[in-house]
Amino acid sequence: MEFEKKILCIGAGYVGGPTMAVIALMCPQYKVTVVDINPTRIAEWNSDHLPIFEPGLDEIVKKTRDRNLFFSTDIAKGIRENDIIFVSVNTPTKEFGIGAGQAADLQYWEKTARQILEFSESAKIVVEKSTLPVKTAEAMERILSSTNNGIKFDVVSNPEFLAEGTAIADLVDPDRVLIGSRETANGLQARDELVEIYANWVPGERIITTNVWSGELSKLVANAFLAQRVSSINAISALCEKTDADISEVAMAVGMDSRIGDKFLNASVGFGGSCFKKDILNLVYLCQHYGLHEVADYWESVVKINEYQQERFILNMLGTMFNTLSGKRIALFGFAFKANTGDTRESPAIFIAKRLLEEKAELVITDPKALKNAMSDLQDARGNVNYTADPYEAAAGCHAIAIVTEWDLYRNLDFEKIYRAMAKPAFIFDGRNILEHKRLFEMGFNVFPVGKPSLKHF
Ligand code: UDX
Ligand code: ADP
Repeated sequence: MEFEKKILCIGAGYVGGPTMAVIALMCPQYKVTVVDINPTRIAEWNSDHLPIFEPGLDEIVKKTRDRNLFFSTDIAKGIRENDIIFVSVNTPTKEFGIGAGQAADLQYWEKTARQILEFSESAKIVVEKSTLPVKTAEAMERILSSTNNGIKFDVVSNPEFLAEGTAIADLVDPDRVLIGSRETANGLQARDELVEIYANWVPGERIITTNVWSGELSKLVANAFLAQRVSSINAISALCEKTDADISEVAMAVGMDSRIGDKFLNASVGFGGSCFKKDILNLVYLCQHYGLHEVADYWESVVKINEYQQERFILNMLGTMFNTLSGKRIALFGFAFKANTGDTRESPAIFIAKRLLEEKAELVITDPKALKNAMSDLQDARGNVNYTADPYEAAAGCHAIAIVTEWDLYRNLDFEKIYRAMAKPAFIFDGRNILEHKRLFEMGFNVFPVGKPSLKHF
C-alpha cells in the first residue's frame, strides 16, 4: 500500500511514543516510524511490555504496530525515508557550565539536528515536539543550513500539551493543537502540512497557528501557569493549617469563580514530573538572559514554594512524631509523581524518601507501577529501604503511612486491617487529601492532611 505521508519521530519516550501511536491510529493512511538510540527501549516498544505505562496505550499500539506504526533503531534510514520529522528527544536541565541548574541541556537536540543534516537526501519538515527554550528553532535552522547542501529544511514548533496518565485522552481530544512556523512561503507550507495531519481528527477551530517563537514560548508559559496554580494553592495550604481553615473548602469557593476555574487547585506534597520545574527554570533563565530579573524572580518563586511544601511535609512528620524518626518504620504509599503513570521524574517522593532516610527512618515503598523507577532513583541513597507492590504488606509494623501519590487504589483499602497491623500510635500523613480523614480518626489513626486541621488522639 502507498502511504499518503511518511512521518518519523526521533525519540521514543513519554512524548514521542504515545503521540505517534495516536497519529498512527487516527491516520491509517500515513506511515509512522519511531526511532531511538536506545535499543532496549525500541525492543520494549516492539514487545508486549511497553516501556511506559499509560492507560489505553497498549490497545492502540497493538492495533497499529506493524500496520502503519513501526519502531526501529535505524535512525539514518528513518531520516532518509521520511519527509516529516518530529523530534522528541529529552531536554533535561543542564547540569554543568553556564546555566547549570536552570537552562535546558540541548546536547541531545543538537546531536539530532546534526544527524538530520547528515542523512537527509531530500527536503524535510523538522517539528519541535520536545519543550525547548524560545529561539531554539533559530539554532536548529543554523545547523541545518550550515553545509549549503541545497536541501530545504523547515523548522516548525508543535509543542505537546499531553499530561502523563491521561496522555491518550489528551491526544485524542486536545484542548488545542499549536503550530508555530516561520511566516515565509516555505514556513507556511510546512505549517499547512502539519495542520493537515491533525485535521484528521481535531476540529479546525482547535488547531491554532502562530509564529514560531510564540509556539516555543507558549509551551513554557502554559506549564509555568499550571505549576503556579499548584504552588498558589499549596502556599495557602500552609496558612490553612495555622488558621483551621480547610484548603478543600477554600479551593472550592475560589474555583467556583468562573474567571478562576476549579482545575489544578488540589493542595499536595508538591508538584513533580519532567516538565514543570524544568520549564519554569528554563523560563527563569531566559528572563535573566534578557535582563528581566524581576520577572525571573517572580517565576522562580513558584519552584521555591514547591520545595518549601515538600520540606514542610517532612517537618510536619518529624514534629508530629515526637521530633525523632530514627528507627521508625514509615510506609510511602505511592512513588510516581502523579497517579496513573510509572514515571517518577522529579517526584516529590524522591525528596521525601531521601529526607526521611537522613532522619534515619526505615522506609517501605509501595506503588502499583513505579517500583522499578523508585529503586533506580534511590539506588545511591543510604539507609534501610524495602519495596513491595502490596500496600498491606508495606504498612504492616509501620509507625506511619505517608500518601505521596493519589492512586485510586489507596482510597479503597481496608484501613481497619491496616490499623491493626501497624505500630501504635499510628499516623497517616495524607499528602494528597484523598482519604476519609474523619473515618480514619475514628478507627484510631492520628491523621494529618495537607491544609486541613489535623485529627489526633493526644
Ligand atoms: C504537565 C502539563 O499538564 C502538560 O500539559 C505538559 O505537556 C507536561 O507537563 P504532567 O507533568 O504530565 O503534565 O502532569 P500534570 O497533570 O500537569 O501534573 C504535574 C504535577 O502537579 C503532578 O505531580 C501532580 O500531582 C501535581 N498537581 C497537579 C498537584 O499537586 N495539584 C493539582 O491540582 C494538579
Ligand atoms: P520525554 O518525556 O520528553 O518524551 P524521554 O526521556 O521519555 O523524554 O524520551 C526521550 C527519548 O529520546 C529517550 O528514549 C532517548 O533515548 C531518546 N534520544 C535521546 N537522544 C537521541 C538521539 N540523538 N537520537 C534518537 N533518540 C534519542
